[in-house]
Amino acid sequence: MSSPAEPTAPADEATTVATQAASTATTEAAALANPLRDPRDKRLPRVAGPCVLVLFGVTGDLAKRKLLPAIYDLGNRGLLPPGFSLVGFARRDWKNQDFARVAHDAIKEHARTPFREEVWRQLREGIHFVPGEFSDDGAFDALAMALKEIDQTRGTGGNYAFYLSIPPKFFPQVVQQLKRTGLANAPKGAWRRVVIEKPFGHDLKSAQELNEITSQVFPESSVFRIDHYLGKETVQNILALRFANNLFEPIWNRGYVDHVQITMAEDIGIGGRAGYYDGIGAARDVIQNHLLQLLALVAMEDPTSFDADALRREKEKVLKAVRLPQDLALGTARGRYTAGWQGGERVRGYLEEDGIPADSTTETYAAIKLEIANRRWAGVPFYLRTGKRLGRRVTEVAVVFQRAPHLPFSKDDTEILGQNALVVRVQPDEGITVRFGSKMPGTAMEVRDVSMDFAYGESFLESSPEAYERLLLDVLIGDPPLFPHQREVELSWRILDPIEEFWATQGPPEDYPAGSWGPASADAMMARDGRVWRRL
Ligand code: BG6
Repeated sequence: MSSPAEPTAPADEATTVATQAASTATTEAAALANPLRDPRDKRLPRVAGPCVLVLFGVTGDLAKRKLLPAIYDLGNRGLLPPGFSLVGFARRDWKNQDFARVAHDAIKEHARTPFREEVWRQLREGIHFVPGEFSDDGAFDALAMALKEIDQTRGTGGNYAFYLSIPPKFFPQVVQQLKRTGLANAPKGAWRRVVIEKPFGHDLKSAQELNEITSQVFPESSVFRIDHYLGKETVQNILALRFANNLFEPIWNRGYVDHVQITMAEDIGIGGRAGYYDGIGAARDVIQNHLLQLLALVAMEDPTSFDADALRREKEKVLKAVRLPQDLALGTARGRYTAGWQGGERVRGYLEEDGIPADSTTETYAAIKLEIANRRWAGVPFYLRTGKRLGRRVTEVAVVFQRAPHLPFSKDDTEILGQNALVVRVQPDEGITVRFGSKMPGTAMEVRDVSMDFAYGESFLESSPEAYERLLLDVLIGDPPLFPHQREVELSWRILDPIEEFWATQGPPEDYPAGSWGPASADAMMARDGRVWRRL
């Protein structure tokens, strides 16, 4: 990760960065001239070189809510080159201006940074649209022609990133078309990259098949698998917290940690995503990727550097060491939301959502207890839970510490003292909390829990970029550490497959009312270990 916040890069890294900077001298000048950039900011800007981003699936929700706004935000921060071009491809009878209008509206509604007419105008100049079906050779020939023309008129140098924001069943067709048209092959001095959105398969076998298809056309180094959690500032900060400090690492092990809870709770239901979600469920949707990636970052050993190989190798080692509970009936729980109240509103149950079959057995809540068989973590449970329509939206990693071995206080004085905890608040209230015991003011020696907080909003002036800003920029720069390798994807499926197979034999999941904190079996799972889920 060639992080911008490296004031004293070692000589060889500095050289690489300098070369990169030289090749983007003009764009960098543009970036530095950007009014949103603080002139006191000494960090070397990471600016993309000349390129085209081809977006398949421009009419989808992700494109509108996240990708198009993120592209604008990058432009607004001066991180895109002047000739940057965006090509949309979809089955719509659109002209360039129709796509531009859609992009404009999406940006106005969802961009993080303020709308500035001059930034939009510059982006607009590079917007193109190619209509067509994925099966239509003619449409892909037209795409190839359009890209050639863009290279000539906008100086994009044959550098193309193909973003597949489409259902995986279309991947083979699109990838084959890119091969047939020669678009997958970079001429000398240029690059071609493909970006794949999750789900990367629905089990180990399908993930391998999917990889087989892409790897026949693109080398692994050109494949960028997006797990947007890795683009979140607070998630990257787990690495800074652990490896830039000396305070936490000595106690980050089985000698001090009692257990770890990783929670991703959502208050929303499945919305209009029945077609995607049913048959997939909570575990495949987010545990296989986001939550296991969080576990890997929390549990891994320190990498020798933050380059892709070193980082991925450490994550892989941890994922390989993950062990499932012996009895999956006792060490896992799953649920499905029923109608209930949320935010003062009556909401439907999962089975009443549009497009969900009455005999669905898909879970909208999943909890799993895992252990990590290595010297650092043996015997420390990692509890993962996620669910839709829960009490509120919150994602956090809580490292809960063992109680002090001896308490020289009267029992009454420590009655309400809990366990120390370090909580990485991933979202929405981004920051870190340390919970510890403190004497209550007064004449007695009563001790109770207090919290020490670090909040992003209070410590930093700059707001955090959206995950997709960071990841899109990394794709355009060609910086892969924040993208999981196929090996990580497969290791994660190896963890999940036996659980899914077990659940498939168990009939429908247990009900929980919308707005609650999940099924009773998830609480029972913790209670058997003498623990409770954190109340959020
Ligand atoms: C996606 C899942 O990966 O993450 C969605 O497919 C989920 O089901 C979403 O709602 C949550 O993302 P975030 O960034 O809002 O936590």
